Amino acid sequence: MRRNVVHEGAEQLTYEIREIVAFANELGKLGVDIIWENIGDPIHKGEMLPDWIKQVVTDLVADDRSYGYVATQGVPETREFLAARTNARGGCQIGRDDIVFFNGLGDAVAKIFGFLKREARVIGPSPAYSTHSSAEAAHSGYEHLTYELDPDRGWLPDLDDLELKIRYNDSIAGLLVINPDNPTGTVYPRKVLENMVDIARRHDVFVIADEIYTELVYNGAARVCLNDVIGDQPGISLRGISKEWPWPGSRCGWIEVFNQDRNETFKKYIRSLINAKMLEVCSTSLPQFAIPSVMGDPRYADHLDARRKVFERRVNEAWEILSTVEGIYVSRPQGAFYMAVVFGDGLLNDRQTLPIENPKVQEYIEERVRDVDADKRFVYYLMGATGVCVVPMTGFYCEKRGFRVTLLETDDEKRRRTMQALAGAIPQYLESAR
Ligand SMILES: Cc1ncc(COP(=O)(O)O)c(C=O)c1O
Repeated sequence: MRRNVVHEGAEQLTYEIREIVAFANELGKLGVDIIWENIGDPIHKGEMLPDWIKQVVTDLVADDRSYGYVATQGVPETREFLAARTNARGGCQIGRDDIVFFNGLGDAVAKIFGFLKREARVIGPSPAYSTHSSAEAAHSGYEHLTYELDPDRGWLPDLDDLELKIRYNDSIAGLLVINPDNPTGTVYPRKVLENMVDIARRHDVFVIADEIYTELVYNGAARVCLNDVIGDQPGISLRGISKEWPWPGSRCGWIEVFNQDRNETFKKYIRSLINAKMLEVCSTSLPQFAIPSVMGDPRYADHLDARRKVFERRVNEAWEILSTVEGIYVSRPQGAFYMAVVFGDGLLNDRQTLPIENPKVQEYIEERVRDVDADKRFVYYLMGATGVCVVPMTGFYCEKRGFRVTLLETDDEKRRRTMQALAGAIPQYLESAR
């Protein structure tokens, strides 16, 4: 081809959460019974929406409105409803024009980074949720910029490290926080969020808060949202129904923009996101129509409460099992539905293995563990020996070695067995070669 048509950032587009599936499928063909603990899709793991939510959707299927385009930014009444909910918290106030719907947050993230000036960077947490880190890296053509979440402090950020990184890199225009966090399950206390906003204010950068798990906070943590702490600083909150209802297949998420009238450049940038959406006409309409009926229903609060209790129980049970295992660090999540496990420094090597009964599976794995990161090696052996499919920590743009496991299995017995399989496999692997 007379021109190189490949974008500078093309190599940054990786998504280990799904890439591990190809490996698992190959093991499946060789006879391994895969236990999927890689992706945050509650439906895939057997959760069912309550009948009353399904009825709202069913009624909309019979409603002719659901088959048309809607306004580019989203259904006005739905945006009004959501703005009122946010405003009722009493923090930064927004209007319906501060809300823009997308085809899921995946679409929102692609536009947020895709329409940022090439030289303007956003610093995000490490470990990172890959959709953000890949999109930011691809937009800039460089490695993603990160601040460290510290496992010894329950995966909260080292704010001194964050501030120094922002101070000495004036290409940084935005600060990303994921709260509750994926993959660690950490919930940011108010003070930490206030300090982060303060850093953003002092260095004149905007804040992006991915709050897709905001209603899934438990284990005594308080739910604090960006609008509670943002004050008059420009900011964007990312929200959606994928995890909350949960309806990931709806491809429905939205952004809430704070203080766009206080900064001309920020306002222009937000306008560019809306114009980009205009080129696509609009986002999925039916889920937007469903939002006020579902989230405005008196049963919704109970629904969320019941889900929080379920995840709290599962998290604590998994933590009880894994926290006794030597050689790993595991903190007790307070939100979302994941658990991050990290191996102690220097404990992994390229001679460790797990016994695998099927020689074909063993051969397949041995061929693929050459030159892979140490935690991916563990993940491959784990899958071959137990069928459990988790995501290596290095897939989350992270220097630490470990893995993320989901807590979505609805069959209590099966979930317990999975956690016990992990608790058994970890020391066996570590001790197989010291
Ligand atoms: C932190 C975070 N943000 C965004 C998303 C994507 O959400 P959506 O289904 O709305 O694209 C996910 C999905 O796992 C996530 O964990």
